[in-house]
Amino acid sequence: MAPPHRTCSSPATLLCIVLLGLQYVDALRSPPPRPNFLIIMADDLGIGDLGCYGNTSIRTPNIDRLAEDGVRLTQYLAAESVCTPSRAAFLTGRYPIRSGMTSGNGHRVLQWAAGAGGLPPKEITFARILQGQGYVTGLVGKWHLGLSCRTVSDLCHHPLNHGFHHFLGLPLGMMGDCAGAEPSEKRAGLERRLRGAGRALAAVAVAIAALAWGRGRGLAPACWAPWAAIALGAVAAIFEAGSYVVGGAVARYDCFLMRNATVTQQPLQLDHVTPLLLREAKDFLRRHRHAPFLLFLSLLHTHTPLVTSPEFRGRSAHGRYGDNVEEMDWVVGQILEVLEHEGLTDSTLVHFTSDNGAWLEAQAGGEQLGGSNGVFRGGKGMGGWEGGIRVPGVFRWPGVLPRGRVLDQPVSLMDVFPTVVRLGGGVLPSDREIDGRDLLPLLRGETWHSAHEVLLHYCEVFLHAVRWVQRDSGQVWKAHFVTPTFDPLGSGSCSGAGGAAAVCPCVGKVEEHDPPLLFELTSDPGEVRPLRAPAKMSEAPNLTAAITSEAVTAAMATAARVRQEYDMLRPTAGHVPQQMGSLYNLWLPWLQPCCGHFPACACDLEGGSRK
Ligand SMILES: *[C@@H]1O[C@H](CO)[C@@H](O)[C@H](O)[C@H]1NC(C)=O
Ligand SMILES: *[C@@H]1O[C@H](CO)[C@@H](O)[C@H](O)[C@H]1NC(C)=O
Ligand SMILES: *[C@@H]1O[C@H](CO)[C@@H](O)[C@H](O)[C@H]1NC(C)=O
Repeated sequence: MAPPHRTCSSPATLLCIVLLGLQYVDALRSPPPRPNFLIIMADDLGIGDLGCYGNTSIRTPNIDRLAEDGVRLTQYLAAESVCTPSRAAFLTGRYPIRSGMTSGNGHRVLQWAAGAGGLPPKEITFARILQGQGYVTGLVGKWHLGLSCRTVSDLCHHPLNHGFHHFLGLPLGMMGDCAGAEPSEKRAGLERRLRGAGRALAAVAVAIAALAWGRGRGLAPACWAPWAAIALGAVAAIFEAGSYVVGGAVARYDCFLMRNATVTQQPLQLDHVTPLLLREAKDFLRRHRHAPFLLFLSLLHTHTPLVTSPEFRGRSAHGRYGDNVEEMDWVVGQILEVLEHEGLTDSTLVHFTSDNGAWLEAQAGGEQLGGSNGVFRGGKGMGGWEGGIRVPGVFRWPGVLPRGRVLDQPVSLMDVFPTVVRLGGGVLPSDREIDGRDLLPLLRGETWHSAHEVLLHYCEVFLHAVRWVQRDSGQVWKAHFVTPTFDPLGSGSCSGAGGAAAVCPCVGKVEEHDPPLLFELTSDPGEVRPLRAPAKMSEAPNLTAAITSEAVTAAMATAARVRQEYDMLRPTAGHVPQQMGSLYNLWLPWLQPCCGHFPACACDLEGGSRK
């Protein structure tokens, strides 16, 4: 399969080059054999954080080389701007609204390891299909798609029940709360609520006591009053005390390691997790080098709290975030080295991506802890803005995919599903809608057009924006019906100084647009020049020769039609339970995975294998 490496000697040089060229083209044309798959997904990494996407001051040589040796996508879109729904769509090839991996109530991701929601057992991941095709499948790292349904041991949402033979990692993922650090996803909010409730109760207790005392001097006090004051005071004290231990509880109950179905380290030992996961991934590759395999390395980098080994701390030009990105690149390099060493490079399709864009609100003590989305507007959590959904995407398969191609067609992370299934020899499920489209023809240069007529950008169950390519002109139109009201300089949620794990809401404090906010992304990737068809040509400051008033009018009509057509997904999708809806997204003590005895839940069975 690999392109020939013979050298050409002088008299026949020209002919030789032509022949080699033909052979090369031939190699690219022949039907590919079933490859191994190595899929690497980062967490909250922005498209502007990598050298191969134009970052000049951060060092990511390994990922850059991967891009040089393969195909780099520049308009690669996550199905959602936050992790749980984006990952669900990635693994199943379906919009989250179809599987129920969404909500309509402000819960954007699964909140607890001990919640009942998760990827429904009847959803089919590409791992499960490959398992059926004789692949050995492994997941190392973050899952965040649920654990159990009714009892802690049913593990109905667990990776082992979704097509993975082998799992070592975090049922949720890395988060600020694992380190008791800012920004905190849960602890800070819980503390605030507990203290607020405690203090409100204390105030009522004091009022009752004062009333009872005041009356005691004149009339006889109601005999229950002192008791009520004491009882309320006690509850208030419990709430107040609770606010001091909730941080430790969150770290223990949500940040732990599982090896297959067993909790093996609780709470997670932050300093050891990167070497542990790296070793596991390397071992997996070595152990299964003779089998067709699928390894999904779901990195904890570059999510806060930016856990970075001492060797990488303070080395980058971009603070703790940059250090973490550079360590991530090193981890990728280590894995690719094992592939090379085991002679697996040519037989393995490697894919690198991120689940959503960089988290702009992630700041603490004035330091920016989130990454960069390059020229793109907005970030993680921000509905349809480009910054939250346009992520890096690199594919490498020497001899089958061209080297150094850059592809700017709009394609989706959901496309990995049909691509992997087909290459692995499987067939797509025919009993359900699959939204992904086979990427191989585009990656190999057999076509230049995305197979997507339109891409939908949901925020929870709400359709925030749509995008489509106009075939004749190549223009990429995007219409926003709703946008978040991100304020880079403000404070509070959905602002620059968000503090506690802010992400913008999908409804409520948002801007609605009728007519929609329209952009042409090829000429305006940063979404700064909204287009409107003017009544008079003289009032058309933003229109150009290519983007005429007629084009804008036509695009507006398309947007309206597409919205009407696809918003219908919502009621039909209403038949599946929303896995991030309130009842499914509560902490249920009886679903709490725990090693040792509840509530202590403490163990470290990974310690012995530490280097
Ligand atoms: C998980 O279970 C499979 C099958 O029993 C086994 O081969 C694999 O080694 C286990 N994985 C880990 C991380 O222990
Ligand atoms: C490179 O990445 C860092 C870290 O996210 C960011 O601060 C910087 O602005 C980026 N540089 C460019 C040129 O995008
Ligand atoms: C034209 O673009 C500018 C930004 O470049 C924007 O502020 C303005 O609102 C746009 N005008 C119209 C009519 O959309």
